Amino acid sequence: MLVVNDAPTTLDLEPRVSLLDALREHLHLTGTKKGCNQGACGACTVLVDGRRVLACLTLAMQVEGREVTTIEGVGPHPLQAAFVRRDGLQCGYCTPGQICSAIGMVAEHRHGAASVVTDDVTTTPDLTPEEIRERMSGNLCRCGAYNGIVEAIVDTAPAMAEMAPALTPVPA
Ligand code: FES
Ligand code: FES
Repeated sequence: MLVVNDAPTTLDLEPRVSLLDALREHLHLTGTKKGCNQGACGACTVLVDGRRVLACLTLAMQVEGREVTTIEGVGPHPLQAAFVRRDGLQCGYCTPGQICSAIGMVAEHRHGAASVVTDDVTTTPDLTPEEIRERMSGNLCRCGAYNGIVEAIVDTAPAMAEMAPALTPVPA
């Protein structure tokens, strides 16, 4: 059973089916995009128990019973409005993944995660544009809308931090 956007759904899937294909082909939630299908672009990013995951590298059976949130379950969200306001998109193909990734990224930051550009990993750094660029580096935008994406996240990070769920430890 998958729980997607608060809706429990029972699917009869082969064990090899990815979460991405389960969402798109079986549940017809096509907001989650397939870019590279090999973990390199971030277009397929969704949230599982509040953490960002690449749906193309995750088997549907791995998330059985856990809370999956796709772009269809995110909105309306202040970050979506900020993307429009800041021109954080052109074609929009990467945008669902960018939005889900940013929400997960802010939750990770709120819970103290460091990044490779964090100078002092014993403290939680401010979410500066440099930190945001590094933490969002797994989400590619072929249209090059990066400046607007970072500005939209800067605008909305405090509100997202307030909305962020408590993150549970990553299952072994
Ligand atoms: S489609 Fe999953 S990372 Fe590119
Ligand atoms: S808006 Fe076109 S790939 Fe990002």
